[in-house]
Amino acid sequence: MPQLIWMRDKAFMINTDNDLAQTALGQAVEQVEEKLLKLLPKAVDLEQQVINAMEYALMAGGKRIRPFLVMESAKIFGVGESAAVRVAAAVECVHTYSLIHDDLPCMDDDDMRRGQPSVHKKFDEATAVLAGDALLTLAFEILSDEQTHADARVRCELISLMAKALGVNGMVGGQMFDLLAENQELDKIRITRLQRMKTGALIVFSGEAGAILGKAESRRRHAIRGYAHDVGLAFQIADDLLDEEGSSEEIGKTAGKDAAAGKATFVSLVGIDQARTKADMLIDQSVKHLEIFGSKAENLRNLAKFIINRAS
Ligand code: IPE
Ligand code: IPE
Ligand code: MG
Ligand code: MG
Ligand code: MG
Repeated sequence: MPQLIWMRDKAFMINTDNDLAQTALGQAVEQVEEKLLKLLPKAVDLEQQVINAMEYALMAGGKRIRPFLVMESAKIFGVGESAAVRVAAAVECVHTYSLIHDDLPCMDDDDMRRGQPSVHKKFDEATAVLAGDALLTLAFEILSDEQTHADARVRCELISLMAKALGVNGMVGGQMFDLLAENQELDKIRITRLQRMKTGALIVFSGEAGAILGKAESRRRHAIRGYAHDVGLAFQIADDLLDEEGSSEEIGKTAGKDAAAGKATFVSLVGIDQARTKADMLIDQSVKHLEIFGSKAENLRNLAKFIINRAS
C-alpha cells in the first residue's frame, strides 16, 4: 500500500527518486504535473512569454498539498481520477497564481520561491502579474469544461465555490488584511480570520471539491469541510513557524521575512511554543472529522500530520 510519509527536521523533497516518489503523494504529484503540462495553453507569437512564466512557476516543484487533498477527497467520494485530476490541476493553478502575486515587490517582495528566483525576478514584474492572471483564468476554463463533470450544475458549483474561496471573502481579502495588518498587533480572533481567509479558504475548497464532484450527502460533505477547515489554519501556522525557524535553503523562500515585515501571525502574537501547540491541537481536531470515513481517509490523516511536521 502506498503511504504518505512525513519528516521533521528534514527538507521535503519531491521530484527526486527517493521513497517519497513511491508514495500516494508522489503519485498524485506525477498525475497533476502531467495534467498541468497538457492544460497549458499554446501560443503563436510574443504571448509565448506569459506561458513560459506560467510553466516556470508551475513546474518549480511545489509540494502539491492542495491537489493531493482534492485527489484524496475525490477517492473517498468515489470520483473517477480523470475528473479529480482536472480539479486538482485547477487548484494548483490558482495556488501558484497566489504565490506569484504574493512575491511581487508591492506585496511580500520575495526574490525566491520554491528554491528558485521568483517569477518577477526570472522574467519581469509585468510578466509576473500577467502569468498570475492567466493561471487564475485558466483554472476557471478547466472547471467549466465538460470533461471536468458531465453535470453542468456540478461544474457551476465548483466554479462558484472556487470564486468565493479566492475572492474578497477568501484569499484576496485575506491578502489585503495581511498587508494592512503589518506592524499592527491583532488579537487571536482577527489573526484567525485573516489566516482562514488568505490560506484556509482554498484548502477548504480543495477538500470539499471531492464531495461536490461525488454529489456527497450533506453529513459527509460537512465532515470533509470540517477536516479541511482545521487543516487550513494549521497549515498557515506551520508556514509561519517555518518562516521563523527554518532556513531559506530548507523552505525555498526567504526565511525570517514575517518578523522583518512585522506580519501579524500567531508566532508574533503568542510565540513559537504556543503557536506550535495551537497547530497540534488543530490537527488533532481535524482528524476527528474523518472518523465517518474509516480507513478510506488514512492518507488524509497522514496528510494532516505531515502539514505540521513538514520541514518546507
Ligand atoms: C505557501 O504554500 C503559501 C501559503 C499559503 C502558506 P505551500 O507551502 O503549499 O507552497 P508550495 O506550493 O509547496 O510551494
Ligand atoms: C501567503 O502567505 C498566502 C497566499 C495566499 C499566497 P505567506 O506570504 O506567508 O506565504 P509565503 O510564506 O510567502 O509562501
Ligand atoms: Mg504574504
Ligand atoms: Mg509571502
Ligand atoms: Mg509565509
